[in-house]
Amino acid sequence: MVERFYIKGGTPLKGEVSIGGAKNSVLKLMAAAILAKGESKIYNVPDLTDVEIMLNVIAQLGCKTSYNKEEKSLTIDATDITNVTASYELVSKMRASFIILGALVSRCKEARVALPGGCAIGERRVDFHIRGLEALGAKIKIENGYVHAKTNKLVGSEVYLDIPSVGATENIMLASVLAEGSTRIQNAAQEPEIVDLANFLNTMGADINGAGTSEIIINGVKPADLHPIEYTTIPDRIEAGTFMTAIIATKGKGIIKNIYPAHLTFFTDKLLKMGANIKLLDPTSMEVSCKNRLNSINFVTQPYPGFPTDLQSMAMTLLTTANGVGIITESLYENRFMQVPDLNRMGADIHQDRNHAIVKGVKKLTGAILTASDLRAGASLVVAALMADGNSVVEKLHHIDRGYENFENKIRLLGGKIERRNEDSQMNLTEGTHNESYL
Ligand code: EPU
Repeated sequence: MVERFYIKGGTPLKGEVSIGGAKNSVLKLMAAAILAKGESKIYNVPDLTDVEIMLNVIAQLGCKTSYNKEEKSLTIDATDITNVTASYELVSKMRASFIILGALVSRCKEARVALPGGCAIGERRVDFHIRGLEALGAKIKIENGYVHAKTNKLVGSEVYLDIPSVGATENIMLASVLAEGSTRIQNAAQEPEIVDLANFLNTMGADINGAGTSEIIINGVKPADLHPIEYTTIPDRIEAGTFMTAIIATKGKGIIKNIYPAHLTFFTDKLLKMGANIKLLDPTSMEVSCKNRLNSINFVTQPYPGFPTDLQSMAMTLLTTANGVGIITESLYENRFMQVPDLNRMGADIHQDRNHAIVKGVKKLTGAILTASDLRAGASLVVAALMADGNSVVEKLHHIDRGYENFENKIRLLGGKIERRNEDSQMNLTEGTHNESYL
């Protein structure tokens, strides 16, 4: 059986949507939870396949884990860690689980974590993570596809990152929490998810300063100083940006709730420049609407607080029908324009040259059969299908399910015409509501 979205485009999205907890934060908080013996509880945890994989990684170490769907919470009891290996079978399913390396070395002085390999959007090396741990005194061997890190004790150090890598900053922070002395990470990533991780660790008893700036100082503490905690994950700024885009793309009007607007400043600014209306309603919600054709803009993806690469595909979808020509430069990943061929099949006019995309606005997109090639490209195609004339089918939904909880239900609550169907591998276009006139 194969799952597909069937989407009928052209309906303006209207109403309210509530944003869940940040996937890219919670996965790291889960790794951090293994630093303290006892049971930690994390709230505002979205029900996503990535969260499930991370729970499996942590369970593989011998921790007791559970997820409560109704409460959107999870517990991790890290009293006993009986295994220091995170297997290829799990890490290859989700590269973010590589974050367990720093936490394991910190807690157990040893870790064997599978190398995640590249992924669809780019090579995604982990050399900064490894160099950072070596600077703290871990002896690292790469053997049989695994990183094997071992140490008698970690000692605080100066670490300079060539680029402000989110994952490397997090892995080094986690490893330094229990190191002897102070670690200073320079050119650190400044994403809100880094701040969330530092807040989580500090609540646990760690001593971290400077998170959210380019210099983070971690003063090592003793294992006995750390204790399990209860903690609420920050809202998912990328899910919020996706729904802002969907509302604007369909010329709708909606309220995005449970967000921190400050985390979206750069994105919001670009949307305003394009001609969308965005109004802050209170500290955790904003109203988004759009009536007229948007204007094109140029933008470059950059580490936070710059334009987020994870929203590049959404902005590209908006540019496809904007007035004029927009130039996008993707500066973080080598291959993050995977949505381009499908957008062009919908009638867009996008020319790609290495890490630049030139988007010439057309009057409209038309529905087509589309394939999600990765998480954010997939979500942007759903948005494109919602704004297009006619019907679309989106395949390979497992990519989208990694990062969007109840995606189609939230879209339907806004009035979008989308349905998930579980059907034979052959698309049956003559059945039910989806007869041949549907496409
Ligand atoms: N890089 C290296 N060497 C390293 C680490 C990174 O060359 O050791 C390069 C990468 O290849 C990439 C760039 O640095 O070109 C940035 O990578 P970074 O380490 O910052 O990204 P990440 O930690 O692997 C997280 C998010 C991504 C998001 C990026 C950038 C998680 C689980 N993932 O990845 O989210 O795009 O930061 O903001 O936090 C997504 O949610 O769809 C997603 C891909």
